[in-house]
Parts: sequence; structure tokens; C-alpha cells
Amino acid sequence: MSRFSPVEVTVYPYECDAYGHMNEAAYLQLFERARWEALAKGPGQDLFRRHRVWPAVRRATVDYQLPAFPGDVLRVDLETEKVGRTSLELRQRATRARDGALVAELQIIFVMIDGEGKPTPIPPEIATLFGGRPSTRPGELVRHDLGGLTLAVDSRGDGPALLLVHGFPLDHSLWAHQVAALARWRRIAPDLRGAGASDAPDGGYSMATYADDLARLLDRLQIARAVVAGLSMGGYIAFEMLRRHRARVAGLILVDTRAEADGADARKGRDEMMNVARTEGAAAVAERMVPRLLGRSSQQTQPQVVEQVRGMIARTPVPGIVGALAAMRDRPDSTPLLPTIDVPTLVVVGAEDEMTPPSAARAMASAIPAAALTTIAGAGHLSPLEAPTAVTRVLAEFLEALPRP
Ligand code: MLT
Repeated sequence: MSRFSPVEVTVYPYECDAYGHMNEAAYLQLFERARWEALAKGPGQDLFRRHRVWPAVRRATVDYQLPAFPGDVLRVDLETEKVGRTSLELRQRATRARDGALVAELQIIFVMIDGEGKPTPIPPEIATLFGGRPSTRPGELVRHDLGGLTLAVDSRGDGPALLLVHGFPLDHSLWAHQVAALARWRRIAPDLRGAGASDAPDGGYSMATYADDLARLLDRLQIARAVVAGLSMGGYIAFEMLRRHRARVAGLILVDTRAEADGADARKGRDEMMNVARTEGAAAVAERMVPRLLGRSSQQTQPQVVEQVRGMIARTPVPGIVGALAAMRDRPDSTPLLPTIDVPTLVVVGAEDEMTPPSAARAMASAIPAAALTTIAGAGHLSPLEAPTAVTRVLAEFLEALPRP
């Protein structure tokens, strides 16, 4: 499937042979004209130049079905047959606009080449545009331009989609273990706006914009529905996805999160932390937050996790930290939503989570019809990192029990 709409082209007298029929060279030109028109109507004729690559034709075969005469208007559609690592196979069909009769078909194979004429991997934006999946190595982030905002995404595997939404002030690597292990699922772990390697605009942060960004990312990846797993702020965003994009949510995994909005003290705390971020930077935010995010046990026995989380926070752009704090401060209360949740739901909480404690998780799970609750021993607020094996196991059990689409 590609994202190009059909275009109409008129057959010119100079394209026809002495009998009024189009010859092969003319067809190749006509189909090429239609491809450039389709690009002009879609992503722009500079698509390849923007990415410093060029699609070189390797083979093209025209199948004739009916004669075409000067003045005939042909409607040309374009379909992707295959997106490889460096090659792209397309089929174009020309039908007569007036009666829909198939006039000719072209099957064409391109190899993407770089400035030196050597085959090069198809850039992710181009692969996605042609309905393919970008080819990446494990751990490699793909940047998806959502129109005015680029998100960096770790996306791997095939199968039903699982969207993994990180918390504050973290990035996609919070889910590294689950992304590596849940092999029967198409795992999609983005850096939210303002986090990790994604764009960090100065403003525009709210639960609504985070949720809309994720819906646009699903559109971009051509995914209709996903199980949405959200940790803490990721859970607040999952609730917002239910409010704004319910049809996209096939199931819900709420990890170390809560449904209530901030109270007066918490709101004041957000403003203070914004001030710390603005005046002292992300490293100072990390110093204050790490002891609250990680459980007692992890702080004592997992120094590498402490360092990993400190590094993750210290790398978070300040506009992203400030924006997320404002978004969390102003988020709506999601408790009225809980009884309406009608997708399979799993609630997970670290036994040592002090930010969103097991009591909050229990209250949330009991308000959601048919939600399951699991407590993870020895973990705090970042259970997927602190107790990766246990969290991956409960996620796998929940996911495997879901009906496969
Ligand atoms: C998070 O982990 O996303 C945040 O700490 C949640 C919060 O501060 O409400």
C-alpha cells in the first residue's frame, strides 16, 4: 500500500506511433510523468533530493492491454509491490478516465543510490511513504516527521502493535528490556516530544498534544489499533488517548501510574521543579528525582540502573522538562474515565513505588471493569527497568491472552 493518490495524464500526439498507438518509450515517459505528478501532489518533487538519494531504475516492463490515442485521458495509480532495504518495486496502472478500461500496466524496480551512485538503504521517511517498513538495526532510532514535529522511535518486530509510552523525564529506553524481549509483537517505543532524540519545541505541551502526536505516529506507521502501555506520565497520556482516540486503543497496560489529577501541593511542586530546570538545568532535576523514582532496593543493589536513569534525565532537553511539568500540572482527572474502560487492561505497580504507590494502583484497578493487577516485588516507580524480567513476564502473559486481530 502506498500513500499516493491517482493522477490523470493526457496522451499527447507526439507520444503515439504512426497508427495512433503509444509505443513503449512513450509509455515509460507517461508513467514517469505520472509518478512525478503524484510526488508533487504528495510529499513534494524534492523528496529524494531532501534525503540525498536518487531512485535509479533497474528494470521496467510495460504490459499493453488496449490502444491509446491522442487526447485520451489516462488515470494512473501507483501501488507498492515491495520495499526492500535498498530496492523498491512499484506497479502503475493506466486506465481510461472515461470508462475505467485498463490500458497498460508498468512494473518497475528501483534501487536507491547515494551521491556516488552506490546502493544505499531507503531512508525511513521514503520507505514509510511507499507503505514499507524502514529497515533498521536493533536499537537504531528512526526519525518520523509528523509534519512540524519529528519523533525518534525505536520500533521492532511484526505482529499486533504494542505502543510503549515512557514517563517523565525519561525516554524510550525505559522500555529497552520489553522492546528486546516481546518478540511476538510489533513494539513501538517513541521518545515523546521534548524527550530523548525527538524534537523539543519551546511550547505546545499538554496531554492532548502528546496523545495527538502518538495518534499521528500510528497513522504514519499505518497502524489502526495498538495496545497502549504507559508508565506514569505515559499512563496519563494513555488515558488521554482513550478520551481523544479511543478507537486506536486495543488494550491498556497502566504501569506505575495514577488516575487522579494533581492536588494543590503537587501543582506547586511542578512549578518549583520548572524553576529548577530553567535555572539549574536537567542534571539538577536528575539529582532531585532519581531518589524518588527508583525503589529502595534498586538504589542499594543496582548502581547501573541508578546511573542509567540519571543519564537519561540529564540528557532530556530543558524545554521538554518544563513542558511536561506544565502538562502534568494541568492534566485532567481521569477517575471518571475508569468505569468506561472497555478494553482488556493490566495494571502493574512496583511494591516500593512511592510516587504512585500500590494503594493508588489498587484503587485504579478496582474502578476499571475487568482489570488485572500485578505488584512487582523489589521495584519502585520505574519497574520495567528495575525488575525487567518480572515486568516482561507479566506483560507477555497479558498480551498472549488477548485475542489476536
Ligand atoms: C513520571 O514518572 O512520569 C512522573 O514522575 C509522574 C508524575 O510526576 O506525576
